[in-house]
Amino acid sequence: MKVLNFGSLNLDYIYGLDHIVKPGETEHSKSLETICGGKGLNQSIALARSGSNVYHAGNVGAKDGAMLLDKMMSAGVDTQFVRKHNEPSGHALIQVDKQGQNSIILFGGANQKVDVAQIDSTLDFFNKGDVIVLQNEINLLETIIRKAHEKQLKIALNPSPFVESLCDLPLSWIDYLFVNEIEAESLLACDDADNIIDYSEQHQGMLIVMTLGSEGVDVIQNGVVQHVDAYSVKPKDTTAAGDTFTGYFLSAHLSGRSLIESAKQATKASAICVCREGASDSIPTMDELNTFEF
Ligand code: RIB
Repeated sequence: MKVLNFGSLNLDYIYGLDHIVKPGETEHSKSLETICGGKGLNQSIALARSGSNVYHAGNVGAKDGAMLLDKMMSAGVDTQFVRKHNEPSGHALIQVDKQGQNSIILFGGANQKVDVAQIDSTLDFFNKGDVIVLQNEINLLETIIRKAHEKQLKIALNPSPFVESLCDLPLSWIDYLFVNEIEAESLLACDDADNIIDYSEQHQGMLIVMTLGSEGVDVIQNGVVQHVDAYSVKPKDTTAAGDTFTGYFLSAHLSGRSLIESAKQATKASAICVCREGASDSIPTMDELNTFEF
């Protein structure tokens, strides 16, 4: 079984600050780093580091995308479906405060230049039962979902960053849905635990993985909820924690591990990620996961 991640690749400009800048305020940054990120790239690296055979599709800038491609290839991601585009690569301006919380501005750039021919030629390589992983940092998401469904691929969706138009997606075709509480409320109209159980009962087979921050994670399928607690850690930088969780959970689940085992592995990986600074560089390898002591 192959895993295709059709998603974003961003250059992340990370500014270390005392606090996240308020409207009308100017603040000196203590540090600036330029690193590889993007929800797509981060999830592909997490998938590869946790043992999946992962292909990435998307676009980078012809002039500024080499660093992104090198990062993916050195992590073991197959980049044959990443195109070089005339548009500059997507980027993110990320403020990180003393508590490790962040605030992100996205510039789509080449990520928003996916076209139907690219979708068709990429999907040609994949077959029934293969898995496609999607987030919301590229264009034509609905088209990709429809074509993946027609090919009977299994579809994993992390509807992040959330925008209202995602509510129009054909969610009943999604096999694995990764949401936080705000996304669950906005996308599924589920603002409490009973609602999400009802939703899950009405969408038999769909696996809903709802991350709850410091409260851990609920894994819900056919109306049955299983819970895993979070690790208690002091975060340095929460960037890419959700992406790390998604990649590690999917790898474990697709390799046949139970939902609880998959959630435990993903919870540990994202806890390690928040103890480190940066996006893709903070995603642990499997060896680090097995030896890390909190
Ligand atoms: O999820 C973290 C990612 O969100 C960052 O790497 C940044 O690029 C934004 O896309």
